[in-house]
Formats: sequence, structure tokens, C-alpha cells
Amino acid sequence: MKQKLQTVLKEALKVKTNSTNFLIDKSLFPTKSHVTSIKSSISPFSTATRYCWNTSFVKSTKPPPKASPAFSRAVTASVFVATTSLTLALIYTHTHPLYADELPHNKQSNPSDPTTSPRRRIIRLHELSAHGPYSPTPWILHHNRVYDITSFLPLHPGGDIILRAAGGSIDPYWDIFSIHKTNGAAELLEEYYIGDVDERDLDAEGKVKGVDDPFKGDPGRDEGSVVLNWRPFNAESGEEGLRAWRTGSGVFYVRNHFWVPEIRSEKHKLVVEMPNGGEKEYSLEDLKKKFKEITITATLQCSGNRRRHMSENARPAAGLQWGVGAISNAVWTGVRLRDVLADAGLDVDELPEDAKHAQFVGAEAYGSSIPIETAVDKRGDVLLAYEMNGEPLPRDHGFPLRVLVPGTVAARSVKWVRKVVVSEEESTSQWQRRDYKCFGPNVKGNPGWDEAPAIQEMPVQSAITGLRDVSRESEGDRILRQGLKMEENWVIVEGYAWSGGGRKITRVDVSADDGKSWHQAELLPDESLGSKAWSWKRWRWVIPRTQVRSCFVVKAADEAGNSQPKDYEPYWNFRGNLTNSWHRVENRQSED
Ligand code: MTE
Repeated sequence: MKQKLQTVLKEALKVKTNSTNFLIDKSLFPTKSHVTSIKSSISPFSTATRYCWNTSFVKSTKPPPKASPAFSRAVTASVFVATTSLTLALIYTHTHPLYADELPHNKQSNPSDPTTSPRRRIIRLHELSAHGPYSPTPWILHHNRVYDITSFLPLHPGGDIILRAAGGSIDPYWDIFSIHKTNGAAELLEEYYIGDVDERDLDAEGKVKGVDDPFKGDPGRDEGSVVLNWRPFNAESGEEGLRAWRTGSGVFYVRNHFWVPEIRSEKHKLVVEMPNGGEKEYSLEDLKKKFKEITITATLQCSGNRRRHMSENARPAAGLQWGVGAISNAVWTGVRLRDVLADAGLDVDELPEDAKHAQFVGAEAYGSSIPIETAVDKRGDVLLAYEMNGEPLPRDHGFPLRVLVPGTVAARSVKWVRKVVVSEEESTSQWQRRDYKCFGPNVKGNPGWDEAPAIQEMPVQSAITGLRDVSRESEGDRILRQGLKMEENWVIVEGYAWSGGGRKITRVDVSADDGKSWHQAELLPDESLGSKAWSWKRWRWVIPRTQVRSCFVVKAADEAGNSQPKDYEPYWNFRGNLTNSWHRVENRQSED
């Protein structure tokens, strides 16, 4: 027994002190990519996500770095846990087999199998779940094997996001961050292996029972949206959403890269970090009490809006095949980011040299950034928003707090924001350095990522969202018919037009004969709020059916004179971003 207890202590300490030094493959990162620049905090959710997800793990030949204070704390905590484990182990070993070689003969590990250690621990699932995100010694499960990741945490390229899986299985997360399946992450984990799941917690196929579903806490969704993907949830505004000037919150398009974080608003904290590392923390109440409340109306548009048209009219483009509905318009209430940054110590009128970008970190894993000039622009209306359409933000749209950058690609409006970092660098996330960029039509595969700028302000856009005969039943159409003194067989064409940077829509050109002849659509009045034209313009065109030919077309112009290109192929880019060529819809209306 004495020998057994000594082994328990040795094993418990071994996994804590066996730390091996790992580097992230530097070539994948433009700046600061050495792992030593990762904050070595091990407290859950305290470290910003600092690196792209496209990482691979490379074993370093350099000697291990000196133990950081956090690492020493981890070791101290481990010793404490190990000592406690000793007492528990004494009791436990009377009734349970502790090692595989104590199991009945037919259940023992196979010594010829290099993946099974002859002296591995047998771990129950309830033991695993006690080592969750808030434990000083978090464990994770990969297949049926258990790993203590305490000393790996400061080395994880994705920061503390790995803690989301602590106390459960990492496998569903690797299904989302699939790069882990090919970048050597599984081999790396072996350094931290501590044991196998007890057979009593395996199902008939030998798989661990009840493995966690990362999306199990996602909210219910309204009908009416066009769902492209459920997990993560991605949905276009459906017909109803695309009919009104203000989009109802339940049918506002949703673009989630991961699960929806479960956040209690009274517990939520926003940390604002300055270039010198100084931090200030705000609760939601602090924000509401301390700063002037602002309400604006603004359109959000995903850079992939209308990607499907690019794929159909030029060549297939990678990504979700959005139609015309990855865009919506709402009323947003919150406080100015400018005011909060000033309060946190930034000189917003005389920006210091090292303040070049405002980075935003979401509570799941997402992050991106905007130029600091946009963040502090007095007429830029960049908000930390807590309300949408007069109600607290819905969970899918960032509850309890999101960034709202009007006029800019919606990828920068980070939801569930938990940290703002004023920095000399752009966010190093994949969504800043990779996904939301545009390349020439000749570029494929592995372009010069760093040379291409991250998309910020959006180009001018328009689309047809409704096409119907003027009805004899509807009250709205009756008024329209009287006003325009129209005969019966008329057609209504409707849609949206919008431009980035707050540039006003000045004209919407429409055609019913595939662009041979043009007319101007009527720009409808609305209740736009804010310093600039942040909201889309709704437009309408009513024409006699007799004038309708094969194809309706729309293109818009903004106050800078920008207009939309005719064709798709010259603007094809392999990520299918910023599709804004003329929108064509075939005339399929039946003759009365
Ligand atoms: N913020 C977080 N935290 N996570 C995300 O997945 N998606 C971004 C942005 N902010 C995203 C995020 C993208 S790509 C878009 S287009 C918008 O949110 C969509 O905002 P919505 O879902 O409220 O329409």
C-alpha cells in the first residue's frame, strides 16, 4: 500500500512538472508569435485570444523557460491537490481498483499497445467533471483518455478557450476547430495524459457516455429565417425580415462562428486595456450609469452577403452560400466606445503613437479589430450596444453587450464582447488576418495574406427583395393604386440599397429588360437615426406589366458616386467576399 501511495504522489506531481516547451510555428504569424508572449495567467477567461486558429504545434529544441509565477502557482496548487488526493486515495482504494493492472485479468491494458500505459489511472466521469473551467487543475477528455492541462494552459495558442472543454470532452470542439485534427495537437496532448475513463462510463460501443454538446445552450430560434447552418447557427433574414425597413430582432440575420455563450448580465464585465497594459473594468451597470446613452439605427451586412450570386454567376466561392439576406437593419442603443476609451485613459483627441487599433474579444473565441480612428471618431457612432430594437440584445445578437461599428463590415461588430484592447497591432485572430479579406480573381489557395488589408468599410450594395403584382385585396396596394391612378396589371419591385462608411444612397437604378433601359426607383422615407446614413434605404418601383421583359435588374449609387459593377467574374475572389454586382431577378410573374 505504501508503495502504491508513493506512486500516486509521484504520478500526481509528474504531470505538473513534466512541462515541455512548445513553440507555435512562427511562419504562420506575422508578429509576436513566440509563445512566451502569451500571458501566462491560468485563471479562466482572463487572457485575450491572441493567435489565429490556423496553428500547428512544433516541439522546441530550446531549453524550457524559467517557471513563471503563474506556473509556480499551478505547481503549488497541484501539490495541494495531490496531497488531498492522497487522503481520498486511501479511502478509495479499499473499494475501487486504482490502476488498470488491478482490474480483472481480461480488462487489463495490452503492454504491446504503445497507447496504453500499464499503470494508467482509471477515472470516473464525475471525477473528470470536478476538474472543470474553474478548477485550479482542469482536465479534458480526448476519446477515452484523460489529460491534465494545467501546465499546458499558458502554452495553448488559442488562449483559455480550451477551458470551455475542461471537465468534459475536447472532441466536439475539435470538430469545430478542425485544424486540431491535423496540426499535431493530439500528440502534444500525450504529454499531459493521466489516465483512462472507467469502463462503467463507456457505452456498448466503448465510447464515453453523454459527451458534451458545445451547442446545447444555444437559444431557441424564431421561424421565418432561412437557416443555412444550425451548429453554429447561421441564418438569413427571410422574406418577412427583408420586407420592412426595421428588421424584427427574431428575423435579423445571424452569423455565429461558434456556440452562443451563456452570460449573466449582472456578472458580465468589460475589460478595457491600454497600450501600456493598464486595464479598467466596467460592469454593464457602470456603462449605463457613467456614460451618455446613444440610440442609432444601423444596417449590418456580412461580407459574404450575396456570395451565392458570385458562385452561380462566376465560379464557386468558398464559404456559406448566402443569398440577399445576410443583411438587416435595426435600432441600437448603447454608449459610445469613444467615451469609454477616454474614461479608461486614452487621449482620444491626441492619439498616442502606439494606439493604432481597437481590438475586440468575444466571450466564445471570436475576435477582430478596427482602426483606432474609426473607434474614436466623434461622428462615427461606434457603440458598445446593450439594446436592439428597444429590448436587451437577444442572445444570438450578443447579449448582454456587443460592439456596433456602423458602416463597417459586420465582422468587426463583435458580439458578447468581454475585452477591448487598444494596441499597435490589429487583432491577430483568423477573422482579422485571414477570412475577411479580398483578393484578385487570379488568386487561389494560399495568397499573400499579410499584404491584403482586412475588410473594413463596405462598398455600395443593393438587391431586389420583393416582386409581386399589385393586389386588389391589400389596403396598402389600394392606396398605391389610387395615388398612382394605375390600371390593374402593375408590378411592384422592392428592395434595399446601402453603402458603407455612412455614405448616403443617392439613386437606385432599375430595369425590367435586363439593363437595356433604366428608370429610377422611389426611395422610401424612414426614421433613420445617427450622425451619418448608417441604415439601408428601402426602394420601390411600380411598373405596368406590359413593360416587363425577361429580367429585373437593380444597381445603386452613393454620395461619393460609387456604383455597382455589372458582371461577377472580374470581381470573383476565392472567399466570395464583397459581392455587389448588379442584382438580376428573372421575371417569373404569371400573367393575370
Ligand atoms: N462576434 C462574435 N463574438 N462571434 C461571431 O461569430 N460573427 C461576426 C460578428 N460578430 C461573430 C461576432 C460576423 S462575421 C457577423 S456578419 C456579425 O457578427 C453578425 O452579427 P449578427 O449575428 O448579430 O447579425
